[in-house]
Amino acid sequence: MKGVILAGGLGTRLAPLTKITNKHLLPVYDKPMVFYPIQTLVNAGIKDILIVTGGNNAGDFLRLLGNGKDFGLQHINYTYQEGEGGIAEALDLAEFFADGESICVMLGDNIIENNINQAVADFRAQGAGAKIMLHEVDDPTRFGVAEISGDKIVAIQEKPKAPKSNHAVIGIYMYDSDVFSIIKTLEPSERGELEITDVNNAYIDKGTMTYEVLGGWWTDAGTFPSLLKASNLVAKTGANKV
Ligand code: DAU
Repeated sequence: MKGVILAGGLGTRLAPLTKITNKHLLPVYDKPMVFYPIQTLVNAGIKDILIVTGGNNAGDFLRLLGNGKDFGLQHINYTYQEGEGGIAEALDLAEFFADGESICVMLGDNIIENNINQAVADFRAQGAGAKIMLHEVDDPTRFGVAEISGDKIVAIQEKPKAPKSNHAVIGIYMYDSDVFSIIKTLEPSERGELEITDVNNAYIDKGTMTYEVLGGWWTDAGTFPSLLKASNLVAKTGANKV
């Protein structure tokens, strides 16, 4: 399985910090934000990684990460998203890299306390379709939210005003190679983006979506409160425990 980290977009919710640099290069406690999702994938045994960047100072990713020596890698792949057409648009840029293989996608602003090793092993055994990960949150209106019936997710609503559960869909997604043909069918949402939630709902409709609930803490870091929360959590317990 190959890994894709989505670190494009303009990070406007963190302006003015993001006026002169990319959100994923900002510090979360003692490391640049993008270090955390890279470590999550590497810990899960995923060594063939593409970083989709964009916006300001994209060249700084190369200066910061090089070929991934700090993570024990020999090579990192990079590509560039123009504008911020959405998470699914950024993911579409990974089609050439994926080359027919399954992928584990992680949003560049998501940070976890533990690891995804079991979920990755389970998805390898699943063989096809998709797997997403859920985490219980107090503020579900900020996220994609899963509507669950029995052991199945029946639908996901993106930032619902009246959430059907407290289970946020976190920014770690596993897909087979069908994901790229699904993306090509999407229309931009009201916020003008190709939504990853629409990709996930397509797999749910096909009956090939599974899920797991992630243990330990999880946070994004794309708003001022969550950026602060992420730094405090990392300082207190550390991240990416294996
Ligand atoms: O953090 C989990 C949440 O992430 C999910 O629960 C939501 O379903 C999902 O839509 C997403 O919500 P956000 O609105 O918080 O996503 P955001 O626009 O902050 O983008 C998250 C990351 O995705 C960002 O750090 C980089 C990448 N991205 C985003 C956009 C819009 C791109 O690479 N390109 C883009 O155009």
